[in-house]
Amino acid sequence: MAHRIVQWGTGAIGKEVLATVLDPRAGLELVGVKVYSDDKDGVDAGTLIGREPVGVLATTDVERVLALDADCVVYTPRLTSISEVCAILASGKNVVTTAFLFHPNRIRLRDRDRVLAACLKGGTSVHGCGLNPGNLSGALPLALSGMSRTIDTLKLQERADWSVYDSTAITFDNMRFGRPADEISVTANDFLAFNSSIFTEQVWLLADALHAGIDEVTASVEAVAAEHDHEIFDHLLRAGTTSGQRWNWVGRRRGQPLVEIETLWTVGNEYPKHWPKPQHGWTLTIEGDPSMRAHFLSLASFERDASMLEHVNSANVATGMQVLNAVPAVCAAAPGFATTATLPQVRSLIGFGN
Ligand SMILES: NC(=O)c1ccc[n+]([C@@H]2O[C@H](COP(=O)([O-])OP(=O)(O)OC[C@H]3O[C@@H](n4cnc5c(N)ncnc54)[C@H](OP(=O)(O)O)[C@@H]3O)[C@@H](O)[C@H]2O)c1
Repeated sequence: MAHRIVQWGTGAIGKEVLATVLDPRAGLELVGVKVYSDDKDGVDAGTLIGREPVGVLATTDVERVLALDADCVVYTPRLTSISEVCAILASGKNVVTTAFLFHPNRIRLRDRDRVLAACLKGGTSVHGCGLNPGNLSGALPLALSGMSRTIDTLKLQERADWSVYDSTAITFDNMRFGRPADEISVTANDFLAFNSSIFTEQVWLLADALHAGIDEVTASVEAVAAEHDHEIFDHLLRAGTTSGQRWNWVGRRRGQPLVEIETLWTVGNEYPKHWPKPQHGWTLTIEGDPSMRAHFLSLASFERDASMLEHVNSANVATGMQVLNAVPAVCAAAPGFATTATLPQVRSLIGFGN
């Protein structure tokens, strides 16, 4: 029987998920859509993604969504709520999410216990994944480690320039690009602290799965000031304000760095000379026996001409598909936390579509 899906949040990723759930080849059934915006309340799910109506209306009413009979909620809001996810899990619906809960055994104990209790009450599982945090900092390294005898260090680098993202609310307000460098820190605002916490969780996931025996994960950020002014959509990024952020989340055993995620983020395409220079995209390096390196890039196509918007959106497709494709495995998992390290390998539900 088709898994019955509720899509919770219809932003960039939620819309990609919706389009796939509505594809008959996926073997899924859409039974509900939760939205936040009043102007989407009561709008048909098909209309929300620019298609013909499909007979499922979006709602802002959480209680109505909780009362639905469904197998899994795909939870992709901008801001997360542990209480909300607990209510969904306790109502008997599994949860897959791109936003958090990547390795719930390593979150704050109080939150971990609440989420676990909700899973046990509802007989359900929760799984957090995506692109990064997600596949590239979880599934891919674990898959490559199948060729390892031993591992000394593991590092994932993400190099990206955010100038093409039109969501300047995220780059300027949340991430604080364009502010003085001394206003950027791990705890400078809720967004940066939350963002840091999910990458910290992901380092723990890899370390725990690969027997690294680390005793801490540290987070640090270096903010670098622009040498020139830059116009980024509706924002002017002034010379002297932050245009580069280098974040490092490092898992250590007795002070020795073993597992690391590094992000090299810029706005305005000025690349600090003293930073490491991996190619754009994601570079995974495993030092060990043997040592391995993989570079990942997602585009809308390597063959046809595609717009910049389509290329940028390909990462949203990848992020959404990573959790949607996991739905059957998450629904089949024992109640509790289903992580990238405990689930079977996740594959495309549609694939070639034949
Ligand atoms: N793991 C990864 O690799 C990865 C990659 C990218 C993003 N993400 C995460 O995935 C999630 C979705 O990303 P996105 O790019 O789709 O985001 P987005 O385009 O900014 O989507 C915004 C979503 O948030 C909803 N929203 C509006 N007001 C809200 C509020 N007050 N509280 C909570 N949600 C509210 C919107 O509601 P409507 O439905 O009414 O529009 C919409 O569904 C985010 O948490 C993001 O951090 C993860």
